Amino acid sequence: MTYVVTEACIKCKYTDCVEVCPVDCFYEGENMLVIHPDECIDCGVCEPECPADAIKPDTEPGLEKWLEVNRDYAKSWPNITQKKDSPEDAKEWEGKDGKFEKYFSSNPGSGD
Ligand code: SF4
Ligand code: F3S
Repeated sequence: MTYVVTEACIKCKYTDCVEVCPVDCFYEGENMLVIHPDECIDCGVCEPECPADAIKPDTEPGLEKWLEVNRDYAKSWPNITQKKDSPEDAKEWEGKDGKFEKYFSSNPGSGD
């Protein structure tokens, strides 16, 4: 198994998660992060750190699409290991539905 970053991260991108990961397996897109499923050691410490509740174990039902998104983009987005400022309007995007369809960007972030 692995943990995965889900829709709730889009446009929130708080990056608290990267600070606690012992294996630095987060990768940064323009408006969300993903976890590299083959690097994640399933320790679970990042899950409670996310203010947007965006990180889930892939054993939860219905997360197949997110596992795929995490796997695909971890290959091309840059590694991120240090917290950076979240978007100014991050709070407004917490818990909003339909963010993937409207706002997902395949563009890479800037990484560390
Ligand atoms: Fe990193 Fe552990 Fe979270 Fe996996 S579960 S992404 S290893 S902190
Ligand atoms: Fe995203 Fe939560 Fe990390 S919003 S960047 S998964 S702390």
